[in-house]
Amino acid sequence: MQKYGVMDASYQAAGGEQGIKKLVDEFYNQMETLKQGKHIRAMHTDDLGVIKDKLSVFLMGWLGGPRNYAKKYGQMSIPMVHKHLVIGEEERDAWLFCMQEALKYQDYDEELKQYLIRELARPAEAIRRVSQMEHG
Ligand code: HEM
Repeated sequence: MQKYGVMDASYQAAGGEQGIKKLVDEFYNQMETLKQGKHIRAMHTDDLGVIKDKLSVFLMGWLGGPRNYAKKYGQMSIPMVHKHLVIGEEERDAWLFCMQEALKYQDYDEELKQYLIRELARPAEAIRRVSQMEHG
Protein backbone atom coordinates (compact mmCIF):
# COMPACT_ATOMS: atom_id res chain seq x y z
CA MET A 1 0.00 0.00 0.00
CA GLN A 2 2.79 2.33 1.02
CA LYS A 3 4.30 2.30 -2.46
CA TYR A 4 1.64 4.45 -4.15
CA GLY A 5 2.00 7.59 -2.08
CA VAL A 6 5.74 7.91 -2.69
CA MET A 7 7.27 10.29 -5.26
CA ASP A 8 5.66 9.70 -8.66
CA ALA A 9 4.86 6.02 -8.04
CA SER A 10 1.09 6.50 -8.42
CA TYR A 11 1.54 8.62 -11.54
CA GLN A 12 3.72 5.96 -13.14
CA ALA A 13 1.46 3.09 -12.08
CA ALA A 14 -1.52 4.96 -13.54
CA GLY A 15 0.23 5.02 -16.91
CA GLY A 16 1.59 8.57 -16.79
CA GLU A 17 -0.04 11.27 -18.91
CA GLN A 18 -1.55 8.88 -21.46
CA GLY A 19 -2.90 6.53 -18.82
CA ILE A 20 -4.50 9.34 -16.83
CA LYS A 21 -6.06 10.90 -19.95
CA LYS A 22 -7.52 7.52 -20.83
CA LEU A 23 -8.93 7.16 -17.31
CA VAL A 24 -10.48 10.63 -17.40
CA ASP A 25 -12.02 9.98 -20.85
CA GLU A 26 -13.59 6.80 -19.53
CA PHE A 27 -14.71 8.57 -16.34
CA TYR A 28 -16.72 11.10 -18.32
CA ASN A 29 -17.91 8.38 -20.67
CA GLN A 30 -19.31 6.56 -17.62
CA MET A 31 -20.85 9.78 -16.35
CA GLU A 32 -22.62 10.20 -19.68
CA THR A 33 -23.74 6.58 -19.83
CA LEU A 34 -24.70 5.51 -16.33
CA LYS A 35 -28.05 6.51 -14.88
CA GLN A 36 -26.21 7.34 -11.63
CA GLY A 37 -24.12 9.88 -13.58
CA LYS A 38 -27.00 11.76 -15.21
CA HIS A 39 -27.49 14.34 -12.48
CA ILE A 40 -23.80 15.27 -12.08
CA ARG A 41 -23.31 15.25 -15.86
CA ALA A 42 -26.01 17.91 -16.05
CA MET A 43 -23.96 20.15 -13.71
CA HIS A 44 -21.27 20.35 -16.42
CA THR A 45 -21.23 22.34 -19.64
CA ASP A 46 -22.28 20.48 -22.80
CA ASP A 47 -18.73 20.35 -24.10
CA LEU A 48 -16.49 18.31 -21.85
CA GLY A 49 -13.22 19.09 -23.66
CA VAL A 50 -11.89 21.63 -21.18
CA ILE A 51 -12.98 19.81 -18.04
CA LYS A 52 -11.38 16.59 -19.28
CA ASP A 53 -8.11 18.42 -19.71
CA LYS A 54 -8.46 20.15 -16.33
CA LEU A 55 -9.16 16.91 -14.47
CA SER A 56 -6.33 15.11 -16.29
CA VAL A 57 -3.77 17.83 -15.61
CA PHE A 58 -4.92 18.06 -12.00
CA LEU A 59 -4.71 14.31 -11.42
CA MET A 60 -1.23 14.15 -12.96
CA GLY A 61 0.13 16.50 -10.32
CA TRP A 62 -2.02 15.02 -7.57
CA LEU A 63 -0.57 11.58 -8.29
CA GLY A 64 2.97 12.86 -8.02
CA GLY A 65 3.62 13.61 -11.70
CA PRO A 66 4.24 17.01 -13.32
CA ARG A 67 2.42 19.78 -11.49
CA ASN A 68 1.12 21.89 -14.35
CA TYR A 69 -2.36 22.84 -13.19
CA ALA A 70 -1.57 26.25 -11.74
CA LYS A 71 0.66 27.11 -14.70
CA LYS A 72 -2.04 26.22 -17.18
CA TYR A 73 -5.26 27.15 -15.37
CA GLY A 74 -4.24 29.22 -12.35
CA GLN A 75 -4.24 28.54 -8.64
CA MET A 76 -7.33 26.92 -7.20
CA SER A 77 -8.55 24.94 -4.26
CA ILE A 78 -10.56 21.83 -5.09
CA PRO A 79 -13.38 22.44 -2.58
CA MET A 80 -13.60 26.13 -3.50
CA VAL A 81 -14.01 25.56 -7.26
CA HIS A 82 -17.00 23.37 -6.45
CA LYS A 83 -18.56 25.73 -3.91
CA HIS A 84 -21.19 27.07 -6.29
CA LEU A 85 -22.47 23.52 -6.89
CA VAL A 86 -24.89 21.68 -4.62
CA ILE A 87 -23.00 18.52 -3.74
CA GLY A 88 -24.39 16.21 -1.10
CA GLU A 89 -23.76 12.56 -0.38
CA GLU A 90 -25.62 11.48 -3.49
CA GLU A 91 -23.55 13.65 -5.86
CA ARG A 92 -20.30 12.73 -4.08
CA ASP A 93 -21.08 9.04 -4.33
CA ALA A 94 -22.17 9.34 -7.96
CA TRP A 95 -18.81 10.95 -8.82
CA LEU A 96 -16.91 8.19 -7.06
CA PHE A 97 -19.09 5.52 -8.64
CA CYS A 98 -18.34 6.82 -12.15
CA MET A 99 -14.65 6.74 -11.26
CA GLN A 100 -14.92 3.22 -9.88
CA GLU A 101 -16.62 2.05 -13.08
CA ALA A 102 -14.01 3.83 -15.22
CA LEU A 103 -11.24 2.08 -13.31
CA LYS A 104 -12.65 -1.27 -14.42
CA TYR A 105 -11.58 -0.39 -17.97
CA GLN A 106 -8.00 0.41 -16.99
CA ASP A 107 -5.13 -1.97 -17.05
CA TYR A 108 -4.23 -1.22 -13.41
CA ASP A 109 -3.68 -3.74 -10.68
CA GLU A 110 -6.46 -4.14 -8.13
CA GLU A 111 -4.39 -2.51 -5.40
CA LEU A 112 -3.99 0.70 -7.39
CA LYS A 113 -7.71 0.85 -8.17
CA GLN A 114 -8.56 0.54 -4.49
CA TYR A 115 -5.92 3.08 -3.55
CA LEU A 116 -7.26 5.62 -6.04
CA ILE A 117 -10.87 5.29 -4.92
CA ARG A 118 -9.85 5.53 -1.28
CA GLU A 119 -7.71 8.62 -1.88
CA LEU A 120 -10.23 10.32 -4.17
CA ALA A 121 -12.91 9.87 -1.51
CA ARG A 122 -11.03 12.48 0.59
CA PRO A 123 -11.30 15.48 -1.77
CA ALA A 124 -14.80 14.30 -2.74
CA GLU A 125 -15.85 14.46 0.91
CA ALA A 126 -14.12 17.84 1.40
CA ILE A 127 -16.10 19.16 -1.58
CA ARG A 128 -19.35 17.86 -0.08
CA ARG A 129 -18.60 19.46 3.28
CA VAL A 130 -17.84 22.89 1.81
CA SER A 131 -20.86 22.70 -0.48
CA GLN A 132 -23.13 21.82 2.45
CA MET A 133 -21.79 24.75 4.47
CA GLU A 134 -22.57 27.00 1.53
CA HIS A 135 -25.95 25.59 0.59
CA GLY A 136 -27.08 24.09 3.84
C1 HEM B 1 -17.77 15.24 -5.26
C2 HEM B 1 -18.33 15.17 -6.48
C3 HEM B 1 -17.93 16.06 -7.61
C4 HEM B 1 -18.78 16.69 -8.48
C5 HEM B 1 -20.30 16.56 -8.49
C6 HEM B 1 -17.97 17.48 -9.37
C7 HEM B 1 -18.46 18.28 -10.40
C8 HEM B 1 -17.73 19.21 -11.08
C9 HEM B 1 -18.27 20.17 -12.02
C10 HEM B 1 -19.74 20.28 -12.42
C11 HEM B 1 -17.25 20.93 -12.45
C12 HEM B 1 -17.33 22.11 -13.44
C13 HEM B 1 -17.54 23.33 -12.62
C14 HEM B 1 -17.82 24.54 -13.44
O1 HEM B 1 -17.14 24.75 -14.44
O2 HEM B 1 -18.73 25.27 -13.06
C15 HEM B 1 -16.05 20.47 -11.80
C16 HEM B 1 -14.79 21.00 -11.97
C17 HEM B 1 -13.62 20.41 -11.53
N1 HEM B 1 -13.54 19.30 -10.74
FE1 HEM B 1 -15.08 18.31 -9.89
N2 HEM B 1 -16.66 17.32 -9.07
C18 HEM B 1 -16.57 16.45 -8.00
C19 HEM B 1 -15.42 15.97 -7.42
C20 HEM B 1 -14.14 16.26 -7.86
C21 HEM B 1 -12.93 15.65 -7.33
C22 HEM B 1 -12.89 14.59 -6.22
C23 HEM B 1 -11.89 16.21 -8.01
C24 HEM B 1 -10.41 15.98 -7.88
C25 HEM B 1 -9.86 14.98 -7.26
C26 HEM B 1 -12.44 17.17 -8.96
C27 HEM B 1 -11.71 17.96 -9.81
C28 HEM B 1 -12.22 18.99 -10.56
C29 HEM B 1 -11.40 19.96 -11.27
C30 HEM B 1 -9.88 19.99 -11.33
C31 HEM B 1 -12.28 20.86 -11.88
C32 HEM B 1 -11.93 22.08 -12.72
C33 HEM B 1 -11.89 23.28 -11.81
C34 HEM B 1 -11.56 24.54 -12.56
O3 HEM B 1 -12.43 25.04 -13.27
O4 HEM B 1 -10.44 25.03 -12.45
N3 HEM B 1 -13.80 17.15 -8.84
N4 HEM B 1 -16.38 19.42 -10.98
